Amino acid sequence: MQRRREGMTTLALLSGKMVPLRQKSYNEIGDEECEAAVRVMRSRKLSGFIGRAGSGFLGGEEVLELEREFCQTFGVSNAVSFNSASTALQAAVAACGIGPGDEVITTSYTMSASASAILLNNAIPVFADIDDRTYGLDPASVARRISPRTRAILAVNLFGGTPDYDALQRIAQTHELRIIEDNAQAPGATYKGKKTGTFTDIAVFSLNVHKVIQCGEGGVITTNDPHLARRAQLVRNHGEVVVDDVMDEDPASAYEPIVGSNYRLSEVHAAIAREQLKKLDRLNAIRQKRVARLTEGLKHFSWIIPWEDSLDMSRVYYLYPFRFRQEAIGFSRKTFAAAMKAEGFPLGVGYVKPIYLMPVYQQKRMFPGSQFPFVSTEYPSSVSYDAGICPVTERLYERELLATTVYQPPNTEETIDAFLDTLACIEKDATDLRDYDLTHA
Ligand SMILES: Cc1ncc(COP(=O)(O)O)c(C=O)c1O
Repeated sequence: MQRRREGMTTLALLSGKMVPLRQKSYNEIGDEECEAAVRVMRSRKLSGFIGRAGSGFLGGEEVLELEREFCQTFGVSNAVSFNSASTALQAAVAACGIGPGDEVITTSYTMSASASAILLNNAIPVFADIDDRTYGLDPASVARRISPRTRAILAVNLFGGTPDYDALQRIAQTHELRIIEDNAQAPGATYKGKKTGTFTDIAVFSLNVHKVIQCGEGGVITTNDPHLARRAQLVRNHGEVVVDDVMDEDPASAYEPIVGSNYRLSEVHAAIAREQLKKLDRLNAIRQKRVARLTEGLKHFSWIIPWEDSLDMSRVYYLYPFRFRQEAIGFSRKTFAAAMKAEGFPLGVGYVKPIYLMPVYQQKRMFPGSQFPFVSTEYPSSVSYDAGICPVTERLYERELLATTVYQPPNTEETIDAFLDTLACIEKDATDLRDYDLTHA
């Protein structure tokens, strides 16, 4: 980008001449998905679920096929579809038999649903800090949070990468904990050659509109434990009604209390998801190739820390996070993001607020007039949600983290090059941006 003239800034933020958006948003819905949806519409059977024991308990043809195809694609023995990853996560926690008085350690840096799934089972989320190379749980922080009440670790594969699962599994084995894996952002990623969603106790995928593959709204649980799968099916479809009949078929079938709801996926959504699943590897490969170019380019800027490979994993890039070093460039992250936005490349700033700083945790209140489950006879303990408990998360949120989607199709390698050229222009005009920063602080 050769827009700079001698002695004059050409940055849109400073000249006031905003550049229209230069990156396109992702949409991979093709004719195949449209035809699949029409096929279901023509069948006039939009759901095959019935909320009682019998053949309709597990859903219709498309739902059952989607689940079979998930098992095949990921090499697991059970897949249970849901109408979202949020409901699937809630069911995964319930399937593990977690409830009031129990603690589940999870990450402080994730989409809120990962932690709400614990709370909605009336258990206590305990937030551990993250590792700023993986953006996943820091095993050392997890180890420090273990208590006699800990029942599980809920790990999140954030942005499409994974935490250090070997270390988490060692902790889980020592303390006899379940690992629940929130794989909403990482379908098709691998950790040490194994696909995510296949090697923990129970894992959850998302099929919402923002994900690499999507059907509008949807989610899937994968697990190699048939008992957990069965309990997830009960939570999905009014389990309290059918528990006698269904648990009789289960070898581990002593009655365990369970209440379900309607978390069922429709036939139309399942049919769309089946087409999307076929495209997963191709879509991931495009992103991986483009990210390699982006990461190489970002290495030229001393004030940016790209997301470089760490551990033995293959990431899939739901988002691409990178870190901003104000001390190396002299203006703030806010000014940088404003300059990029003005150039047509909006960035995500800070990702999400550390979960424990949200009002429900700060006030320890999810019901009016009650502090249950945070303060209750079932939980004669106390959990801290004080600011400062996860310093790495807070640093990333407040000062360092930025995220881009510029590598996602239909954007091309040229879009990435334009993005990198824009960074070079910003670096050249750093002095002007420092002045801007001072006047706009
Ligand atoms: C890490 C993570 N977990 C859970 C969810 C919830 O997914 P859904 O929208 O399918 O409920 C999301 C959605 O963005 C997510 O990113």
